[in-house]
Amino acid sequence: MNPGMNTLHPYPFEKLAELTAGVDLPALSRIPLTIGEPKHQPPAHVLEALVASIEELAKYPTIIGTAELREQISRWIAARFKTHAIDPASEVLPVNGTREGLFAIAQALVTPGNAGSVVIPNPFYQIYEGAALLANVDPLLIPANEDTGHLADYRMLTNDDWQRCEMLFLCTPGNPSGAVIPETDLHYLIEKALEHDTILVSDECYSELYYDEERPPVGLLQAAESYGNTAFKNCLVFHSLSKRSNLPGLRSGFVAGDANLIAQFKRYRTYHGCAMPLHHQFASIAAWSDEEHVVENRALYRAKFDAVTERLAPVLPVSIPEAGFYLWPKTPTPDTVFARELLSHTNVAVLPGSFLGRSVNDVNPGAGHIRMALVATMTETLEAADRIRHWLERG
Ligand SMILES: Cc1ncc(COP(=O)(O)O)c(C=O)c1O
Repeated sequence: MNPGMNTLHPYPFEKLAELTAGVDLPALSRIPLTIGEPKHQPPAHVLEALVASIEELAKYPTIIGTAELREQISRWIAARFKTHAIDPASEVLPVNGTREGLFAIAQALVTPGNAGSVVIPNPFYQIYEGAALLANVDPLLIPANEDTGHLADYRMLTNDDWQRCEMLFLCTPGNPSGAVIPETDLHYLIEKALEHDTILVSDECYSELYYDEERPPVGLLQAAESYGNTAFKNCLVFHSLSKRSNLPGLRSGFVAGDANLIAQFKRYRTYHGCAMPLHHQFASIAAWSDEEHVVENRALYRAKFDAVTERLAPVLPVSIPEAGFYLWPKTPTPDTVFARELLSHTNVAVLPGSFLGRSVNDVNPGAGHIRMALVATMTETLEAADRIRHWLERG
């Protein structure tokens, strides 16, 4: 067996199930604010494109995807991130959701067995850690906490750390905090990555769910371009239709950037065998071609953030994130205690922040927070906020 299998951690939702097993529940319906699964409507024209192309199931899709899909993605990147024209033949590859791609990239491009050769933020999306562990690498964790504006402070990496680091994961906008890495910090990472030949892997799956319509988050390719790294050397970005277009079941995303790395990844994927089904590609073209539904989607999240934070502000230190769909407030009691008691009094489920991070030197930077996903309908989300508020007011 791959020795990394023995080092994998239980998923946060498994830990939550264990934490809350046997808890007495009130006679109220369960409201889960735990899983980041979008519940807004997917765009109708995308579903139509999916159904209209269903007969494509009779054909094998290719790893590289259709030219039309790669061209549409390239146009989208250039328009959204103000880059020069992206080469659809060499700088873009479809992935079946960012999760699959983020996992596979480490298997393809990291030397197994080198401790510290993968660097990840802490707390993190657990796939980064699992990808490193199954590549037989003990990842180096960079804390993100209040003091660092909830962004991993990669400036704490020494030259030796950089020298060991083959792949550095960044998540911008971040899960869980929604914080966006500023362009100057991305420039710093690009400078270091070029100096030490490190691959930057930027998970940007929340990039389209920003709160302020006037301030779309900057992306790594955009920063590479403004830095002068116009070939995107050592830079890869991962994007997804799951959050942007409410299509988590389509399993559709892409990786874009450094053509040499994309070529290697394509070779890996040929054997991995994960081509995107053709009808999903047609649906994806329809989704990447339209921004109207994304503007509407952002408006729905904005309305929920406004209404929920207004209700919760008197009882919890909630602040609206720059992007994403999570609230990440501090808790008045330890996060696991808070989550269990909240469930037992209100039947509202939230994720303890410590389950999203790891303790390093006895400090877990996720501890003392909860993650609340505002993915459900406005009515249900407000019902959850009201229950939390009344429970906390009762003390
Ligand atoms: C930070 C982050 N990256 C990646 C993903 C995976 O998204 P998908 O595979 O649906 O694109 C998620 C899903 O919740 C996430 O939170």
